[in-house]
Amino acid sequence: MAKDSKKNKARPVSAMPTEEDIGLDTSLRPQSFSDYVGQKKMVENLKIFVKAAKQRSEPLDHVLFCGPPGLGKTTLAYVIAREMGVDIVSSSGPAIDRKGDLAGILTNLKKDDVFFIDEIHRLPRVVEENLYPAMEDFHFDYIVGEGPAARNLRLKLPHFTLVGATTRTALLSSPLRDRFGVVCRLEFYPAEELGKIIRRSAKIMKIELDQAGAIEIARRARGTPRVANRLLRRIRDFAQVLGDGIITTEVAKEALTRLDIDDLGLDRMDYLILMTIIEKFNGGPVGVDAISASVAEERETVEDVYEPFLLQEGLVQRTSRGRVATPRAYAHLGFELPKGQSQLGFSKPE
Ligand SMILES: Nc1ncnc2c1ncn2[C@@H]1O[C@H](COP(=O)(O)OP(=O)(O)OP(=O)(O)O)[C@@H](O)[C@H]1O
Ligand SMILES: [Mg+2]
Repeated sequence: MAKDSKKNKARPVSAMPTEEDIGLDTSLRPQSFSDYVGQKKMVENLKIFVKAAKQRSEPLDHVLFCGPPGLGKTTLAYVIAREMGVDIVSSSGPAIDRKGDLAGILTNLKKDDVFFIDEIHRLPRVVEENLYPAMEDFHFDYIVGEGPAARNLRLKLPHFTLVGATTRTALLSSPLRDRFGVVCRLEFYPAEELGKIIRRSAKIMKIELDQAGAIEIARRARGTPRVANRLLRRIRDFAQVLGDGIITTEVAKEALTRLDIDDLGLDRMDYLILMTIIEKFNGGPVGVDAISASVAEERETVEDVYEPFLLQEGLVQRTSRGRVATPRAYAHLGFELPKGQSQLGFSKPE
């Protein structure tokens, strides 16, 4: 953990939260649907579901949020509870490690409360299986006693709303996924929306920045609000020391260059990954394990943190045989495409 956060601290464009982010995340976190920027279609739908549930005086259906780190899943869980006017109890997959922990949380919920499970793909199997009847029929079974004297007891639970969040939809078992009435996939944010988020955050943090400065940061924030907020705070230091405190395009550009963040928002680690695929593995296809070993990172970190943005930007492609560097990656890094390479980055069939 300490090692990870040190690494993240050194990497201003990591979408994973650092220790510094925790306070920042909370103070900048939108409280209601009206503060929440972007993801428009999804938010419009959620508003309708919330309104309908409130009109019927029923709890909201269970909701699952999927998507890369830092896009606003936790934020939405809190927004939902607030808009429903209910309390939220928050936990995470790895924290609920025994069946008894789950029983303890569930039996303490009140009717309509939101129970938020972050990293829900990391729930232990036995806990997950006990969550099914709780989600479906609002009861919890447990066994008291042992051997022939054992009895099955059924606890009735209040009707609650489970909100799950995961960065890894593929790791979620289908029985669990199927029990969510609403499944929302969060997308990377376009620069204009990130610009809005940056201006909102600047206002809260009392940072002066002009429109062009906001857009310059937004363009390089990897479509991720958490990264945008972190860059804003870093760049404020440059504006204060090198300029007159106002973040303009020039200040933003200078600061981002000094932070080693290029005009796509890529940093050294992204370069290292792309160079590994291009130079060590001839452009791919190469398995993610080999990439992770080469860049000395955990496979999970490569898949969760770095790769989604490289895929989204069309710099890397996922194929059945592994990852491939695209012509755009070659061009961006200033490499010539190897002979015999088609536009798609695959070897040309003879
Ligand atoms: N739509 C948004 N509008 C404004 N700010 C946002 C939005 N989404 C996220 N943020 C900001 O980004 C920060 C990170 O968001 P959040 O913690 O909800 O991400 P997450 O998806 O839960 O990430 P993780 O997967 O790491 O848990 C929030 O504290 C908030 O300040
Ligand atoms: Mg979260």
